[in-house]
Amino acid sequence: MNYNHEASGDLWIENLVQTFEQDGKPLHILNGINLRVKHGEFVSLLGPSGCGKSTLLQNIGGLLTPKSGRVILQGKDITGQKGHISYMPQQPALLPWRDVLSNVVLGSEIAGVKRSQMKAKAVEWLEKAGLASFAHAYPHMLSGGMQQRVSFVRAMLSPQSFMCLDEPFGALDAITRLEMQQWLLQIWEEHRKTVLLITHSIEEALLLSDRIYVFSPRPAKVIQQHLVPFARPRREELIYSHTFNELKSDIYRTLKGSMASAHDH
Ligand SMILES: Nc1ncnc2c1ncn2[C@@H]1O[C@H](COP(=O)(O)OP(=O)(O)OP(=O)(O)O)[C@@H](O)[C@H]1O
Ligand SMILES: [Mg+2]
Repeated sequence: MNYNHEASGDLWIENLVQTFEQDGKPLHILNGINLRVKHGEFVSLLGPSGCGKSTLLQNIGGLLTPKSGRVILQGKDITGQKGHISYMPQQPALLPWRDVLSNVVLGSEIAGVKRSQMKAKAVEWLEKAGLASFAHAYPHMLSGGMQQRVSFVRAMLSPQSFMCLDEPFGALDAITRLEMQQWLLQIWEEHRKTVLLITHSIEEALLLSDRIYVFSPRPAKVIQQHLVPFARPRREELIYSHTFNELKSDIYRTLKGSMASAHDH
C-alpha cells in the first residue's frame, strides 16, 4: 500500500497480523488490521472481548512485534519499538515501590525529563483526578479505580503526543465513570493529544470520539468505521439525541451480528 505518511503526525497501522501459539497450534489474533489515527484526532476501537484489541495496542506500543505488517508514526516505521507513544495498559501496572507522585512522573523520567521539573505539573494533574491527598500513598493503598486514575494521569503526563488508552474507565462505578468521561472530554478538548481508546461502551465511544472502528471477533479485522458527526464541545445531553441513538443501534447490531456469525462457525 502506498500512503503518503511523510510529514504528518498520523499513526498508520498497515496490514498488521499477529499470531500466538496455544497448545502447539497457532492462534490467529489480528487478521490484517488497517487503520489510521490522524494528528489531533480521538479514535475509539470497539470489539468483542478477546478479539485482539489489547494485542493491537501492545503492538503499537512496541511491547509485541507483529508477525507481519507495520506501525508507522509521523512517517517513521516504529514497528516493534518502545517509547514512541504514551500508553495506558488495561491493568494499571503501577510500580509498587514508588508512591503515586513518583509513579505518575515515570513516563517523563524515562524520556529524560528531570523529576523536579515535573513535580508541580504532576501535583496539578493529581488534583484534577481527585487524588491530591494520595500523592504519597503507595499503589496497594489505592482502590482499583484509583489505580486506574493514577495510570491515566501517568499517560497524560508522558511527553509523547500520541496516547493509547486501554479501557481506562473499566474499573469504575457508573457515576464515577460518567464523571471521568466528562473530565477526559474536557481535557482532550483543551489539550488535543492524539488518542486511540479501547472501550466496551458504545456510548463512551460516541461521546468522546471523532471516529470509531468496530472489530470482528478473533481473529480481529475492521468490520465497520464511523465518523462521529457531533460538534465540539460536547455535552452529556448528546446521549439523548436521535442521531446518537441511531448510531448506537447501528454499532450494536454490527457487533451482535458479527458475534452471532462467529458462533455459527
Ligand atoms: N501473550 C499471549 N500469548 C498467547 N495468547 C495471548 C497472549 N496475549 C493475548 N492472548 C490471547 O489473544 C486473544 C486476544 O487477547 P486481547 O487481550 O488482545 O483481547 P481484547 O480484545 O483486549 O479483550 P478484552 O476486551 O477482554 O480486554 C485472547 O484469546 C488471548 O487469550
Ligand atoms: Mg483488552
